[in-house]
Amino acid sequence: MKSDINVQRAKDNENLTDVEKKHIPVIEAPAAVIAGEPFEVKVTIGSVPHVMEEDHYIQWIELHINGDFVGKKELKAADGKAEATFTVVGTEEMISAREIMNCRIHGFGVCGTCGTRSAIVILRALEGCNVHGIWEGSKGIEITSATSKPGKKCEWGPEL
Ligand SMILES: [Fe+2]
Repeated sequence: MKSDINVQRAKDNENLTDVEKKHIPVIEAPAAVIAGEPFEVKVTIGSVPHVMEEDHYIQWIELHINGDFVGKKELKAADGKAEATFTVVGTEEMISAREIMNCRIHGFGVCGTCGTRSAIVILRALEGCNVHGIWEGSKGIEITSATSKPGKKCEWGPEL
């Protein structure tokens, strides 16, 4: 993972400060998607809209999924709104990688009992404010394999 020394995050998600409300990216995405099927992710800065003025504005918004770069939108004050929409595709590989991670935690054989194959992946949005620096927000969504078999579903969560 690259160094994130200059990236600012919410210190307490349940109790954002005023500056956090204006800078933490808000991610809108479906809670569950199918691998291989494109979906839209809208990122808005922030839960209280950030100003877009010549001397103070959001310069860019970037999106990653599970650490993979999705896209970056450059913004100008004249755009008026600090938001961007990205088209994202989850992959079967993201689910396979998760199975390996979970098997290491829970022991061999756990995944073999599972019919439906799904994984929680992390959408991570970054933004750059010309005054207040770089901020991050993230959200977990569930990707289900397009080749799922019927059966018991693993109860995997983003905390794993
Ligand atoms: Fe700002």
